[in-house]
Amino acid sequence: MSKTNPGLLTIVLAAGKGTRMKSALPKVLHQVGGRSLVGHVIGLAAETGAAHHAVVIGPDMDNVRAEATRLAPAASVFVQRDQLGTADAVLSAREAIASHIGDVIVLYGDTPLIRAATLEGMRAALDGGANVVVLGFEAADPTGYGRLLTGPSGDLEAIREEKEASPAERAVRLCNSGVLAFRCPDLMSILTRIGNANAKGEFYLTDAVEIARKDGLRAAVVVCPEEEVLGINSRDQLAAAEAIFQTRARRYAMAEGATLIAPETVWFSFDTRIGRDVVIEPNVFFGPGVSIEDNVTIHANCHFLQAVVRAGARIGPFARLRPGADIGPDAHIGNFVEVKNTIVEAGAKANHLAYVGDGRVGAGANIGAGTIFCNYDGFNKHRTEIGAGAFVGSNSALVAPVRIGNGAYVGSGSVITRDVPAGALALERSEQKVVEGWAEKFRTLMSRKKAKTA
Ligand code: UD1
Ligand code: MG
Repeated sequence: MSKTNPGLLTIVLAAGKGTRMKSALPKVLHQVGGRSLVGHVIGLAAETGAAHHAVVIGPDMDNVRAEATRLAPAASVFVQRDQLGTADAVLSAREAIASHIGDVIVLYGDTPLIRAATLEGMRAALDGGANVVVLGFEAADPTGYGRLLTGPSGDLEAIREEKEASPAERAVRLCNSGVLAFRCPDLMSILTRIGNANAKGEFYLTDAVEIARKDGLRAAVVVCPEEEVLGINSRDQLAAAEAIFQTRARRYAMAEGATLIAPETVWFSFDTRIGRDVVIEPNVFFGPGVSIEDNVTIHANCHFLQAVVRAGARIGPFARLRPGADIGPDAHIGNFVEVKNTIVEAGAKANHLAYVGDGRVGAGANIGAGTIFCNYDGFNKHRTEIGAGAFVGSNSALVAPVRIGNGAYVGSGSVITRDVPAGALALERSEQKVVEGWAEKFRTLMSRKKAKTA
């Protein structure tokens, strides 16, 4: 579906404040899988290949506008002044609709789990002769949803909002997800005929079905699983959506050839990339922007954000890879090691208790236990360069900016403030003093003293 589709316009409705979230943030900016709800929907809209995209936001939602334009720079953003209903929301994008020839798909910004294949199915129904296609689902509990009323032929006759529904209509469990696709000769004329003489006094987009049918057009239903159309109104629904998202992501990683020992304890982001024959032990978290190449082993309890791990590398247990960490092929990053903005080249090792920030670790170099890259002076960040094959002894502090040459040694416990040439030894500590027989003398002296005071 990556072809451009000049005949398609998508409209994402995101004007709702989402008061039930009890948040300073507009509802659609809350996240699932490390991406805003509206970001998921804009991503889905992009997958249709539509050439035109519109997003409808509420007043004072500059942050939603910014998110929309960040993800879809070509999208037109419209402001719905007052929340007069879903039809009014769509009509806020009238400029985009009026100038468009072709299909229109309406999506909700708070419904992040719809799959691209489902929208394909709706478009196939348009191709099959329907003028209006509604995405429906069998609701476990239909309370609050619009009911889809179908005729003997299976065609959709009307969508009845709950407040307008008769008891018999309320018994219908086939519900409206809110997603609608239109192939109407004159959609504007249908939308502008929608009124607000109903229980809520709102302009219901759902009335478009009956109006279209009166015009002699056909309406149809495409059904998808309920979990796909879960709309988020509250924090517990946000957590439920996260759970569905994670289940999908875990299945996908395994289907693509990764082993997850305890899948329910591994957390993915929307863009996590996992290669083949990757083994992931329990309790691992992937924030956005992470790519793990083939044959990598991730031991238990690791955290990743905007990091790359190249083929065959071993990470953890208890490692933290922060933005800009790039771990080379067959490199080892061990327990309690934090790596940030550093390229660790092929086969290099930092196996225990280290901070490796703002630098480069050359191929095959060894970073000893307790090594710290002292990258920050309180004002600026500075770089540490470790040459290929260099050996940094345990408990060394490398005060950046500093360079350790290829193959050089740094003696344990050194505080290195000046560059070390290739092949040299740098040692920065006072010389060790050895007093033969001292311990015995000391013990004798102390036990006598103690006997006197007793
Ligand atoms: C709507 C549908 C209902 C469907 C349900 C699915 C209508 C009339 N009803 O009802 O059939 O079962 O969704 O969840 O369409 N919005 C705006 N501006 C507005 C009103 C709404 O942008 O003036 C946006 C909201 O932010 C939300 C979406 O449209 O993303 C749906 O609005 P909402 O008020 O939740 O509609 P429901 O009453 O749930
Ligand atoms: Mg709703």
